[in-house]
Formats: sequence, structure tokens, C-alpha cells
Amino acid sequence: MANRLVCLCNFVDEKEIRLVLKKGAESTADIQRFTRAGTSCGRCLPEIDELVLNHKKNKPEDQQRKLELGQ
Ligand code: FES
Repeated sequence: MANRLVCLCNFVDEKEIRLVLKKGAESTADIQRFTRAGTSCGRCLPEIDELVLNHKKNKPEDQQRKLELGQ
């Protein structure tokens, strides 16, 4: 998967946002606090919302897979 720049104002890419989500961020506000993405013009906020939603949707499966793999 290509790494895209999500927040042009603050130079925050998708990889950094996914990392913060993996470390426990649970909302767009958390992403803003930890990366500063979405804290300037706000044009990237819908994309950040989508990344957060997708992470939440996929989270139970990831946890289930880790349980199955004994991680
Ligand atoms: S593009 Fe993210 S705050 Fe402007």
C-alpha cells in the first residue's frame, strides 16, 4: 500500500496516522492531538475520520487474529 500524505498543512502521512491508531488513538481528536493532522485548514478531517472508522471496523478482526495466532 502506498503511503499518502493526508494532511498537507502539517505533513502528516497515512502511515503516521495508522501508527497512532495502533498505539491506542480512538478518535479524530486523538489524531489531531498526537500528530497535529487536521489542526490547520481542516480539509483533511473527512479523510482522518475515515481512517479512524476503518480502524475501528477492522479492530475486532485484528484482535481475533492475534488471539488465534497466540500473540
Ligand atoms: S490539510 Fe490537514 S489541516 Fe490542512
